[in-house]
Amino acid sequence: MSFVIETKDLTRVYQTYQKPEGILNSLKGFFHRKYNYKIALDKATLKIGSGQIIGLVGANGAGKTTLLKILSGLVTPSSGTASVLGFKPSERKNEFLRQISILLGQKNQLWWDISPMDSFALLARIYDLNPDAARKRVHDLAEMLKCSHVLQTQLRRLSLGERMKMEIIGALLHEPKILFLDEPTIGLDIVAQETIREFLAQYVKEKSPTIILTSHYMDDIAKLADTLLLISKGHIVYQGTLKEFVAKANTEMAENEEVNFEEVIRRFLETESRLC
Ligand SMILES: Nc1ncnc2c1ncn2[C@@H]1O[C@H](COP(=O)(O)OP(=O)(O)O)[C@@H](O)[C@H]1O
Ligand SMILES: [Mg+2]
Repeated sequence: MSFVIETKDLTRVYQTYQKPEGILNSLKGFFHRKYNYKIALDKATLKIGSGQIIGLVGANGAGKTTLLKILSGLVTPSSGTASVLGFKPSERKNEFLRQISILLGQKNQLWWDISPMDSFALLARIYDLNPDAARKRVHDLAEMLKCSHVLQTQLRRLSLGERMKMEIIGALLHEPKILFLDEPTIGLDIVAQETIREFLAQYVKEKSPTIILTSHYMDDIAKLADTLLLISKGHIVYQGTLKEFVAKANTEMAENEEVNFEEVIRRFLETESRLC
């Protein structure tokens, strides 16, 4: 198998300023700043093959978004190396950016005050796409996502679900080989969640991209991912098939007990939150 993503001991430490209480201490702090250090990602070593769909799962604060941001070049690693399609993501070369996409479910990436269609036209210019081909692609994707009717409405007037669908179209416009999806269904109602899930399943079948997907909804992971990547406090604690993961959990269970994927993950996340 050829690997499209490889990391070695990838580590990211965030430094935050610890603001002291009281005005006097604040003034003192101005000259002698105290910092807190948070290891968000700790020596993550990974190999991901072309066409794999990775479900990245971990508790809040485990380091999922940090990993995706490093792999797409939005955050630089503190140490260790990352190679994506043979590029060093932090260099953010055009040729690299044209082949990847990151969707941050908690953040709008399209322009807020214009219609999605106008945003897509701008993106097509940025990515140097043929305008007619890009327009057709937008319409095809919108149809699959059942949201053609809102393409001309100002983004700020759309519902959360409609906005997310627009963000997905924006992320796929340039047909990226690698897609980082960070919580693409977060906060959406069940119908919108299902539409997006079905859409992604169909898209994967047609285009065979490599995807790393994070989600709090295990339905997303179970339906879409073939490989599970479990992360705990910045450490990768499991990388393998979902099936093996469930089978392994079941061998550790009492004889009369059997758990499914969702239940194993629920127990894992519960233990994580107790350890915090
Ligand atoms: N810009 C930042 N500055 C300081 N700390 C951060 C920053 N971004 C993330 N962190 C911290 O790093 C840890 C990992 O965060 P994140 O990667 O967002 O986790 P996840 O996506 O799994 O919830 C958390 O403890 C978070 O508070
Ligand atoms: Mg996150």
